[in-house]
Amino acid sequence: MSNLQSEIGVVGLGVMGAALSLNLASNTFRVAVFNRDTGTEKGTVSNFISRNSSLTNLQGFTDLKSFISNLERPRKIILMISANAVDIVLDDLLPLLDANDIIIDAGNSHFKETEDRQSRCAKSGIEFVGCGVSGGERGARFGPSIMPGGSKSAYASIEPYLKAIAAKDVHSKPCVSYIGAGGSGHFVKMVHNGIEYVEMQLLAELYQLLRNYWSNEQISELFEEWNQTDLQSYLLEITANILIKKEDDGFLLSSILDKAGNKGTGSWSSIAALELGSENSMMSAAVFARYLSSQKETRARLDHIRVTKEFADFDVDALKNAYNAARRLNHLQGFELIRYVAKEFDWDINFSELARIWTNGCIIRSNLMENLSHRFKNVHSLIDDDEIIQGLNDQEDALSEVLQSFIDYRVAAPAFSVAWNYWIGLTTGNGPANLIQAQRDYFGAHTYQRVDDPNGASHHTNWEQ
Ligand code: 6PG
Repeated sequence: MSNLQSEIGVVGLGVMGAALSLNLASNTFRVAVFNRDTGTEKGTVSNFISRNSSLTNLQGFTDLKSFISNLERPRKIILMISANAVDIVLDDLLPLLDANDIIIDAGNSHFKETEDRQSRCAKSGIEFVGCGVSGGERGARFGPSIMPGGSKSAYASIEPYLKAIAAKDVHSKPCVSYIGAGGSGHFVKMVHNGIEYVEMQLLAELYQLLRNYWSNEQISELFEEWNQTDLQSYLLEITANILIKKEDDGFLLSSILDKAGNKGTGSWSSIAALELGSENSMMSAAVFARYLSSQKETRARLDHIRVTKEFADFDVDALKNAYNAARRLNHLQGFELIRYVAKEFDWDINFSELARIWTNGCIIRSNLMENLSHRFKNVHSLIDDDEIIQGLNDQEDALSEVLQSFIDYRVAAPAFSVAWNYWIGLTTGNGPANLIQAQRDYFGAHTYQRVDDPNGASHHTNWEQ
Protein backbone atom coordinates (compact mmCIF):
# COMPACT_ATOMS: atom_id res chain seq x y z
CA MET A 1 0.00 0.00 0.00
CA SER A 2 1.31 3.45 -0.88
CA ASN A 3 1.76 6.07 1.85
CA LEU A 4 1.17 8.90 -0.57
CA GLN A 5 -1.79 11.15 -0.10
CA SER A 6 -4.78 10.26 -2.20
CA GLU A 7 -6.21 12.52 -4.89
CA ILE A 8 -9.79 11.47 -4.36
CA GLY A 9 -11.83 9.61 -1.74
CA VAL A 10 -14.83 7.33 -1.96
CA VAL A 11 -17.17 6.79 0.99
CA GLY A 12 -19.20 3.58 0.80
CA LEU A 13 -17.96 0.27 -0.51
CA GLY A 14 -21.30 -1.20 -1.53
CA VAL A 15 -21.60 -2.65 -5.02
CA MET A 16 -21.56 0.76 -6.73
CA GLY A 17 -18.93 2.37 -4.48
CA ALA A 18 -16.57 -0.57 -4.92
CA ALA A 19 -17.01 -0.52 -8.70
CA LEU A 20 -16.48 3.24 -8.93
CA SER A 21 -13.36 3.07 -6.72
CA LEU A 22 -11.89 0.39 -8.97
CA ASN A 23 -12.72 2.48 -12.03
CA LEU A 24 -10.88 5.48 -10.52
CA ALA A 25 -7.92 3.38 -9.41
CA SER A 26 -7.68 1.66 -12.81
CA ASN A 27 -7.44 5.11 -14.29
CA THR A 28 -4.28 5.53 -12.19
CA PHE A 29 -5.72 8.00 -9.69
CA ARG A 30 -4.61 7.60 -6.09
CA VAL A 31 -7.83 6.63 -4.35
CA ALA A 32 -8.73 6.40 -0.67
CA VAL A 33 -11.80 4.35 0.22
CA PHE A 34 -13.74 4.46 3.45
CA ASN A 35 -16.37 2.15 4.86
CA ARG A 36 -17.44 1.64 8.45
CA ASP A 37 -16.30 -1.56 10.04
CA THR A 38 -19.29 -2.54 12.14
CA GLY A 39 -22.02 -5.18 12.05
CA THR A 40 -22.55 -6.76 8.65
CA GLU A 41 -20.00 -4.36 7.16
CA LYS A 42 -17.15 -5.70 9.28
CA GLY A 43 -14.18 -6.54 7.11
CA THR A 44 -15.56 -4.74 4.04
CA VAL A 45 -12.52 -2.50 3.61
CA SER A 46 -9.84 -5.08 4.34
CA ASN A 47 -11.50 -7.61 2.03
CA PHE A 48 -11.81 -5.05 -0.73
CA ILE A 49 -8.17 -4.00 -0.42
CA SER A 50 -6.88 -7.56 -0.33
CA ARG A 51 -9.03 -8.59 -3.31
CA ASN A 52 -7.54 -5.69 -5.28
CA SER A 53 -3.99 -5.82 -3.98
CA SER A 54 -2.58 -5.30 -7.49
CA LEU A 55 -3.92 -1.73 -7.38
CA THR A 56 -1.26 -0.17 -5.17
CA ASN A 57 -2.80 3.27 -5.65
CA LEU A 58 -5.82 2.18 -3.59
CA GLN A 59 -5.82 2.77 0.19
CA GLY A 60 -8.52 1.60 2.58
CA PHE A 61 -9.73 3.25 5.78
CA THR A 62 -12.20 2.37 8.50
CA ASP A 63 -11.45 5.47 10.53
CA LEU A 64 -12.98 8.61 9.07
CA LYS A 65 -10.36 10.99 10.48
CA SER A 66 -7.48 9.01 8.97
CA PHE A 67 -9.35 8.82 5.66
CA ILE A 68 -9.82 12.60 5.61
CA SER A 69 -6.21 13.34 6.51
CA ASN A 70 -5.08 11.05 3.70
CA LEU A 71 -6.75 13.27 1.11
CA GLU A 72 -5.00 16.04 -0.77
CA ARG A 73 -6.54 19.49 -0.44
CA PRO A 74 -8.97 20.68 -1.55
CA ARG A 75 -10.41 17.28 -0.67
CA LYS A 76 -12.67 15.57 -3.17
CA ILE A 77 -14.95 12.98 -1.63
CA ILE A 78 -17.46 10.89 -3.54
CA LEU A 79 -20.36 9.55 -1.47
CA MET A 80 -21.65 6.26 -2.86
CA ILE A 81 -24.19 5.53 -0.17
CA SER A 82 -27.93 5.17 -0.02
CA ALA A 83 -29.88 8.42 -0.24
CA ASN A 84 -31.19 8.15 3.31
CA ALA A 85 -27.67 7.90 4.76
CA VAL A 86 -26.31 11.10 3.20
CA ASP A 87 -27.26 13.45 6.06
CA ILE A 88 -25.93 11.02 8.66
CA VAL A 89 -22.59 10.81 6.86
CA LEU A 90 -22.51 14.59 6.45
CA ASP A 91 -22.91 14.98 10.22
CA ASP A 92 -19.68 13.02 10.70
CA LEU A 93 -17.87 14.42 7.69
CA LEU A 94 -18.45 18.16 7.87
CA PRO A 95 -16.59 18.84 11.15
CA LEU A 96 -13.51 17.21 9.61
CA LEU A 97 -13.50 19.22 6.38
CA ASP A 98 -12.22 22.66 5.42
CA ALA A 99 -13.43 25.42 3.13
CA ASN A 100 -13.12 24.59 -0.58
CA ASP A 101 -13.33 20.85 -0.01
CA ILE A 102 -15.80 19.17 -2.36
CA ILE A 103 -18.34 16.48 -1.54
CA ILE A 104 -19.89 14.66 -4.48
CA ASP A 105 -23.12 12.78 -3.79
CA ALA A 106 -23.19 10.17 -6.54
CA GLY A 107 -26.30 8.36 -5.28
CA ASN A 108 -29.94 8.78 -6.29
CA SER A 109 -30.75 11.65 -3.90
CA HIS A 110 -33.79 13.86 -4.29
CA PHE A 111 -32.78 17.14 -5.94
CA LYS A 112 -34.42 19.27 -3.25
CA GLU A 113 -32.47 17.49 -0.53
CA THR A 114 -29.34 18.05 -2.59
CA GLU A 115 -30.08 21.78 -2.59
CA ASP A 116 -30.60 21.75 1.20
CA ARG A 117 -27.26 19.99 1.57
CA GLN A 118 -25.59 22.52 -0.72
CA SER A 119 -26.82 25.33 1.55
CA ARG A 120 -25.72 23.43 4.64
CA CYS A 121 -22.21 22.87 3.26
CA ALA A 122 -21.94 26.40 1.90
CA LYS A 123 -22.05 27.70 5.50
CA SER A 124 -18.56 26.20 5.94
CA GLY A 125 -17.42 27.12 2.43
CA ILE A 126 -17.68 23.47 1.38
CA GLU A 127 -18.92 22.59 -2.09
CA PHE A 128 -21.59 19.93 -2.54
CA VAL A 129 -22.10 18.44 -6.00
CA GLY A 130 -25.28 16.46 -6.67
CA CYS A 131 -24.11 13.98 -9.23
CA GLY A 132 -26.32 11.54 -11.11
CA VAL A 133 -24.52 8.32 -12.06
CA SER A 134 -26.12 5.75 -14.31
CA GLY A 135 -25.10 2.38 -15.61
CA GLY A 136 -25.44 -0.02 -12.72
CA GLU A 137 -22.45 -1.92 -11.36
CA ARG A 138 -20.89 -2.57 -14.75
CA GLY A 139 -21.23 1.07 -15.71
CA ALA A 140 -19.69 2.26 -12.45
CA ARG A 141 -16.75 -0.11 -12.97
CA PHE A 142 -16.07 0.42 -16.68
CA GLY A 143 -17.75 3.70 -17.60
CA PRO A 144 -20.98 5.25 -16.35
CA SER A 145 -22.87 8.24 -17.65
CA ILE A 146 -22.29 11.05 -15.17
CA MET A 147 -24.54 14.07 -14.50
CA PRO A 148 -22.93 16.56 -12.09
CA GLY A 149 -24.80 19.62 -10.82
CA GLY A 150 -23.68 22.37 -8.45
CA SER A 151 -21.18 25.20 -8.76
CA LYS A 152 -19.14 25.46 -11.95
CA SER A 153 -15.92 25.88 -10.01
CA ALA A 154 -16.53 22.66 -8.06
CA TYR A 155 -17.20 20.89 -11.34
CA ALA A 156 -13.95 22.25 -12.81
CA SER A 157 -11.98 20.67 -9.92
CA ILE A 158 -13.52 17.23 -10.35
CA GLU A 159 -13.89 17.23 -14.14
CA PRO A 160 -10.60 15.39 -14.90
CA TYR A 161 -11.59 12.49 -12.65
CA LEU A 162 -15.12 12.25 -14.00
CA LYS A 163 -13.97 12.48 -17.62
CA ALA A 164 -11.46 9.70 -17.08
CA ILE A 165 -13.94 7.26 -15.55
CA ALA A 166 -17.00 8.04 -17.69
CA ALA A 167 -18.26 5.98 -20.62
CA LYS A 168 -17.26 7.32 -24.03
CA ASP A 169 -19.69 8.36 -26.77
CA VAL A 170 -19.35 7.41 -30.46
CA HIS A 171 -16.74 10.14 -30.89
CA SER A 172 -14.82 8.91 -27.82
CA LYS A 173 -15.95 11.96 -25.84
CA PRO A 174 -16.63 11.24 -22.16
CA CYS A 175 -20.29 10.85 -21.21
CA VAL A 176 -20.10 13.55 -18.57
CA SER A 177 -21.01 17.19 -18.77
CA TYR A 178 -21.73 19.97 -16.32
CA ILE A 179 -25.52 19.98 -16.06
CA GLY A 180 -26.19 23.20 -14.19
CA ALA A 181 -26.54 24.84 -10.80
CA GLY A 182 -28.23 23.57 -7.64
CA GLY A 183 -29.82 20.14 -7.75
CA SER A 184 -29.94 19.96 -11.55
CA GLY A 185 -27.64 16.92 -11.74
CA HIS A 186 -29.87 14.87 -9.48
CA PHE A 187 -32.97 16.23 -11.20
CA VAL A 188 -31.90 15.00 -14.63
CA LYS A 189 -30.85 11.64 -13.16
CA MET A 190 -34.31 11.34 -11.63
CA VAL A 191 -35.88 12.00 -15.04
CA HIS A 192 -33.44 9.53 -16.62
CA ASN A 193 -34.88 6.93 -14.28
CA GLY A 194 -38.43 8.00 -15.12
CA ILE A 195 -37.71 7.53 -18.83
CA GLU A 196 -36.18 4.17 -17.91
CA TYR A 197 -39.38 3.14 -16.09
CA VAL A 198 -41.45 3.88 -19.22
CA GLU A 199 -39.04 2.14 -21.58
CA MET A 200 -39.31 -0.96 -19.38
CA GLN A 201 -43.08 -0.71 -19.05
CA LEU A 202 -43.63 -0.44 -22.83
CA LEU A 203 -41.66 -3.63 -23.36
CA ALA A 204 -43.53 -5.32 -20.51
CA GLU A 205 -46.86 -4.42 -22.12
CA LEU A 206 -45.78 -5.81 -25.49
CA TYR A 207 -44.57 -8.98 -23.78
CA GLN A 208 -47.94 -9.36 -22.04
CA LEU A 209 -49.79 -8.89 -25.32
CA LEU A 210 -47.74 -11.48 -27.14
CA ARG A 211 -47.02 -14.10 -24.48
CA ASN A 212 -50.30 -16.01 -24.75
CA TYR A 213 -49.68 -16.72 -28.41
CA TRP A 214 -45.97 -16.56 -29.01
CA SER A 215 -43.11 -18.46 -27.42
CA ASN A 216 -40.44 -16.60 -25.48
CA GLU A 217 -38.07 -17.35 -28.35
CA GLN A 218 -40.41 -15.71 -30.84
CA ILE A 219 -40.84 -12.57 -28.75
CA SER A 220 -37.10 -12.46 -28.17
CA GLU A 221 -36.46 -12.81 -31.89
CA LEU A 222 -38.83 -9.94 -32.66
CA PHE A 223 -37.12 -7.69 -30.10
CA GLU A 224 -33.72 -8.77 -31.36
CA GLU A 225 -34.80 -7.90 -34.90
CA TRP A 226 -36.05 -4.48 -33.80
CA ASN A 227 -32.78 -3.97 -32.01
CA GLN A 228 -30.99 -4.10 -35.38
CA THR A 229 -33.02 -1.08 -36.52
CA ASP A 230 -33.33 2.51 -35.36
CA LEU A 231 -35.23 1.11 -32.36
CA GLN A 232 -31.94 -0.16 -30.95
CA SER A 233 -31.60 0.36 -27.21
CA TYR A 234 -29.84 -1.23 -24.27
CA LEU A 235 -33.16 -2.07 -22.60
CA LEU A 236 -34.52 -3.71 -25.77
CA GLU A 237 -31.30 -5.73 -26.06
CA ILE A 238 -31.38 -7.01 -22.48
CA THR A 239 -35.10 -7.77 -22.73
CA ALA A 240 -34.46 -9.98 -25.76
CA ASN A 241 -31.82 -11.80 -23.69
CA ILE A 242 -33.97 -12.07 -20.56
CA LEU A 243 -36.78 -13.73 -22.53
CA ILE A 244 -34.65 -16.69 -23.53
CA LYS A 245 -32.66 -17.17 -20.33
CA LYS A 246 -33.16 -20.76 -19.29
CA GLU A 247 -33.23 -22.27 -15.83
CA ASP A 248 -33.21 -26.04 -15.80
CA ASP A 249 -35.73 -27.00 -18.49
CA GLY A 250 -37.82 -23.86 -18.40
CA PHE A 251 -37.45 -20.13 -18.84
CA LEU A 252 -36.24 -18.26 -15.80
CA LEU A 253 -38.78 -15.50 -16.52
CA SER A 254 -41.68 -17.90 -15.84
CA SER A 255 -40.33 -18.44 -12.33
CA ILE A 256 -40.16 -14.74 -11.51
CA LEU A 257 -43.02 -13.20 -9.55
CA ASP A 258 -44.95 -10.47 -11.41
CA LYS A 259 -44.38 -7.84 -8.73
CA ALA A 260 -42.09 -4.89 -9.46
CA GLY A 261 -40.62 -2.76 -6.70
CA ASN A 262 -39.06 0.66 -6.99
CA LYS A 263 -36.72 2.92 -5.09
CA GLY A 264 -38.66 6.13 -5.61
CA THR A 265 -37.13 8.07 -8.50
CA GLY A 266 -40.08 7.32 -10.80
CA SER A 267 -42.60 8.68 -8.33
CA TRP A 268 -40.37 11.68 -7.59
CA SER A 269 -40.39 12.46 -11.33
CA SER A 270 -44.17 12.24 -11.40
CA ILE A 271 -44.49 14.48 -8.34
CA ALA A 272 -42.07 17.00 -9.87
CA ALA A 273 -44.10 17.03 -13.08
CA LEU A 274 -47.32 17.63 -11.14
CA GLU A 275 -45.67 20.48 -9.25
CA LEU A 276 -44.18 22.03 -12.37
CA GLY A 277 -47.32 21.63 -14.49
CA SER A 278 -45.59 19.49 -17.10
CA GLU A 279 -47.63 16.72 -18.79
CA ASN A 280 -45.86 13.55 -17.73
CA SER A 281 -48.52 10.89 -17.95
CA MET A 282 -46.27 8.10 -19.24
CA MET A 283 -43.93 8.11 -16.24
CA SER A 284 -46.87 8.25 -13.83
CA ALA A 285 -48.52 5.35 -15.68
CA ALA A 286 -45.33 3.30 -15.42
CA VAL A 287 -45.03 4.02 -11.69
CA PHE A 288 -48.68 3.17 -11.06
CA ALA A 289 -48.29 -0.03 -13.09
CA ARG A 290 -45.55 -1.08 -10.65
CA TYR A 291 -47.81 -0.23 -7.70
CA LEU A 292 -50.62 -2.35 -9.16
CA SER A 293 -48.14 -5.14 -9.85
CA SER A 294 -47.36 -5.16 -6.13
CA GLN A 295 -51.00 -5.92 -5.30
CA LYS A 296 -50.44 -9.51 -6.29
CA GLU A 297 -52.89 -11.07 -3.85
CA THR A 298 -55.73 -8.79 -4.91
CA ARG A 299 -55.03 -9.35 -8.59
CA ALA A 300 -54.91 -13.10 -8.08
CA ARG A 301 -58.23 -13.04 -6.23
CA LEU A 302 -59.95 -11.03 -8.94
CA ASP A 303 -58.25 -12.81 -11.79
CA HIS A 304 -60.43 -12.68 -14.90
CA ILE A 305 -57.73 -13.64 -17.31
CA ARG A 306 -59.26 -15.29 -20.28
CA VAL A 307 -57.84 -15.79 -23.67
CA THR A 308 -60.21 -13.61 -25.62
CA LYS A 309 -58.97 -14.74 -28.98
CA GLU A 310 -57.93 -18.20 -29.84
CA PHE A 311 -55.38 -17.25 -32.46
CA ALA A 312 -52.96 -14.42 -32.54
CA ASP A 313 -53.41 -11.97 -35.32
CA PHE A 314 -50.88 -9.29 -34.65
CA ASP A 315 -49.83 -6.73 -37.20
CA VAL A 316 -46.13 -6.83 -36.45
CA ASP A 317 -45.40 -3.66 -38.41
CA ALA A 318 -48.03 -1.82 -36.41
CA LEU A 319 -46.49 -3.11 -33.16
CA LYS A 320 -43.12 -1.84 -34.25
CA ASN A 321 -44.40 1.56 -35.28
CA ALA A 322 -46.53 1.95 -32.17
CA TYR A 323 -43.56 1.04 -29.97
CA ASN A 324 -41.45 3.54 -31.88
CA ALA A 325 -44.05 6.29 -31.42
CA ALA A 326 -44.57 5.53 -27.73
CA ARG A 327 -40.83 5.64 -27.09
CA ARG A 328 -40.53 8.99 -28.79
CA LEU A 329 -43.46 10.36 -26.80
CA ASN A 330 -41.77 9.08 -23.64
CA HIS A 331 -38.56 10.92 -24.47
CA LEU A 332 -40.51 13.99 -25.50
CA GLN A 333 -42.30 14.08 -22.14
CA GLY A 334 -39.10 13.42 -20.20
CA PHE A 335 -37.16 16.22 -21.88
CA GLU A 336 -40.17 18.55 -21.55
CA LEU A 337 -40.11 17.96 -17.80
CA ILE A 338 -36.48 19.02 -17.75
CA ARG A 339 -37.29 22.06 -19.88
CA TYR A 340 -39.96 23.08 -17.37
CA VAL A 341 -37.66 22.71 -14.39
CA ALA A 342 -34.82 24.54 -16.14
CA LYS A 343 -37.16 27.47 -16.72
CA GLU A 344 -38.46 27.39 -13.15
CA PHE A 345 -35.02 27.35 -11.52
CA ASP A 346 -33.13 29.19 -14.24
CA TRP A 347 -30.83 26.24 -14.91
CA ASP A 348 -28.93 26.66 -18.14
CA ILE A 349 -29.17 23.04 -19.27
CA ASN A 350 -27.67 22.13 -22.62
CA PHE A 351 -30.15 19.56 -23.96
CA SER A 352 -27.92 18.35 -26.76
CA GLU A 353 -25.13 17.67 -24.27
CA LEU A 354 -27.55 15.99 -21.89
CA ALA A 355 -28.77 13.65 -24.62
CA ARG A 356 -25.16 13.05 -25.68
CA ILE A 357 -24.05 11.94 -22.22
CA TRP A 358 -27.01 9.57 -22.23
CA THR A 359 -25.84 7.90 -25.45
CA ASN A 360 -23.55 5.55 -23.57
CA GLY A 361 -22.92 4.19 -20.10
CA CYS A 362 -26.47 4.70 -18.86
CA ILE A 363 -29.52 2.45 -18.81
CA ILE A 364 -31.49 4.48 -21.40
CA ARG A 365 -28.73 4.57 -23.99
CA SER A 366 -30.14 4.03 -27.45
CA ASN A 367 -30.02 4.91 -31.07
CA LEU A 368 -32.89 7.35 -30.41
CA MET A 369 -30.81 9.15 -27.77
CA GLU A 370 -28.00 9.53 -30.29
CA ASN A 371 -30.50 11.00 -32.72
CA LEU A 372 -31.87 13.37 -30.07
CA SER A 373 -28.39 14.64 -29.20
CA HIS A 374 -28.23 15.99 -32.78
CA ARG A 375 -31.83 17.23 -32.87
CA PHE A 376 -31.36 19.30 -29.73
CA LYS A 377 -28.69 21.32 -31.53
CA ASN A 378 -31.53 22.88 -33.54
CA VAL A 379 -34.50 22.89 -31.18
CA HIS A 380 -35.01 23.48 -27.50
CA SER A 381 -38.13 21.34 -27.36
CA LEU A 382 -38.97 18.21 -29.34
CA ILE A 383 -42.45 19.67 -29.78
CA ASP A 384 -40.83 22.23 -32.09
CA ASP A 385 -39.10 19.53 -34.13
CA ASP A 386 -41.16 19.16 -37.30
CA GLU A 387 -39.64 15.81 -38.20
CA ILE A 388 -40.48 14.33 -34.80
CA ILE A 389 -44.04 15.60 -35.02
CA GLN A 390 -44.40 14.40 -38.62
CA GLY A 391 -43.01 10.97 -37.67
CA LEU A 392 -45.49 10.69 -34.81
CA ASN A 393 -48.24 11.78 -37.15
CA ASP A 394 -47.28 9.01 -39.56
CA GLN A 395 -47.36 6.47 -36.73
CA GLU A 396 -50.65 7.56 -35.19
CA ASP A 397 -52.63 4.86 -37.02
CA ALA A 398 -50.28 2.16 -35.77
CA LEU A 399 -50.55 3.47 -32.21
CA SER A 400 -54.36 3.42 -32.45
CA GLU A 401 -54.36 -0.06 -34.00
CA VAL A 402 -52.12 -1.48 -31.29
CA LEU A 403 -54.18 0.15 -28.58
CA GLN A 404 -57.19 -1.59 -30.10
CA SER A 405 -55.29 -4.88 -29.96
CA PHE A 406 -54.62 -4.41 -26.23
CA ILE A 407 -58.37 -3.96 -25.78
CA ASP A 408 -59.27 -6.88 -28.05
CA TYR A 409 -56.87 -9.22 -26.27
CA ARG A 410 -57.79 -7.84 -22.82
CA VAL A 411 -54.29 -6.75 -21.91
CA ALA A 412 -53.70 -3.72 -19.67
CA ALA A 413 -51.58 -1.14 -21.44
CA PRO A 414 -51.19 1.87 -19.17
CA ALA A 415 -48.12 3.28 -20.92
CA PHE A 416 -49.33 2.73 -24.50
CA SER A 417 -52.77 4.13 -23.73
CA VAL A 418 -51.51 7.32 -22.08
CA ALA A 419 -49.08 7.74 -24.97
CA TRP A 420 -52.03 7.65 -27.35
CA ASN A 421 -54.03 10.04 -25.17
CA TYR A 422 -51.12 12.42 -24.86
CA TRP A 423 -50.52 12.45 -28.60
CA ILE A 424 -54.20 13.00 -29.44
CA GLY A 425 -54.51 15.71 -26.78
CA LEU A 426 -51.33 17.40 -27.93
CA THR A 427 -52.56 17.58 -31.50
CA THR A 428 -56.10 18.75 -30.76
CA GLY A 429 -56.28 22.52 -31.16
CA ASN A 430 -59.80 22.83 -29.85
CA GLY A 431 -60.21 20.77 -26.68
CA PRO A 432 -63.05 20.54 -24.16
CA ALA A 433 -61.48 22.73 -21.44
CA ASN A 434 -63.96 25.49 -22.34
CA LEU A 435 -66.50 23.31 -20.57
CA ILE A 436 -64.18 22.87 -17.57
CA GLN A 437 -63.78 26.66 -17.39
CA ALA A 438 -67.54 27.10 -17.52
CA GLN A 439 -68.14 24.47 -14.81
CA ARG A 440 -65.58 26.11 -12.52
CA ASP A 441 -67.17 29.47 -13.05
CA TYR A 442 -70.68 28.03 -12.55
CA PHE A 443 -70.06 26.45 -9.15
CA GLY A 444 -67.23 28.60 -7.82
CA ALA A 445 -67.17 31.89 -9.73
CA HIS A 446 -63.61 31.04 -10.75
CA THR A 447 -64.08 33.14 -13.93
CA TYR A 448 -63.13 32.17 -17.47
CA GLN A 449 -61.31 33.60 -20.45
CA ARG A 450 -63.07 34.20 -23.75
CA VAL A 451 -62.01 33.37 -27.29
CA ASP A 452 -63.14 36.84 -28.41
CA ASP A 453 -61.06 38.64 -25.79
CA PRO A 454 -57.41 38.66 -26.90
CA ASN A 455 -56.33 40.34 -23.64
CA GLY A 456 -57.17 37.17 -21.72
CA ALA A 457 -59.24 39.07 -19.16
CA SER A 458 -61.31 37.18 -16.59
CA HIS A 459 -65.05 36.99 -17.21
CA HIS A 460 -67.81 35.77 -15.00
CA THR A 461 -71.40 34.79 -15.76
CA ASN A 462 -74.25 34.41 -13.39
CA TRP A 463 -75.15 31.00 -14.82
CA GLU A 464 -78.48 30.49 -13.09
CA GLN A 465 -80.09 33.71 -14.20
C1 6PG B 1 -29.14 3.55 -13.39
C2 6PG B 1 -30.38 3.02 -12.78
C3 6PG B 1 -30.23 2.88 -11.32
C4 6PG B 1 -31.31 2.01 -10.73
C5 6PG B 1 -32.41 2.80 -10.18
C6 6PG B 1 -33.80 2.44 -10.59
O1 6PG B 1 -29.28 4.58 -14.01
O2 6PG B 1 -28.09 2.93 -13.24
O3 6PG B 1 -31.46 3.88 -13.04
O4 6PG B 1 -30.11 4.13 -10.76
O5 6PG B 1 -31.73 1.04 -11.56
O6 6PG B 1 -32.22 2.61 -8.83
O7 6PG B 1 -34.43 1.91 -9.55
P1 6PG B 1 -35.81 1.36 -9.23
O8 6PG B 1 -36.35 0.64 -10.42
O9 6PG B 1 -35.46 0.42 -8.12
O10 6PG B 1 -36.63 2.50 -8.76
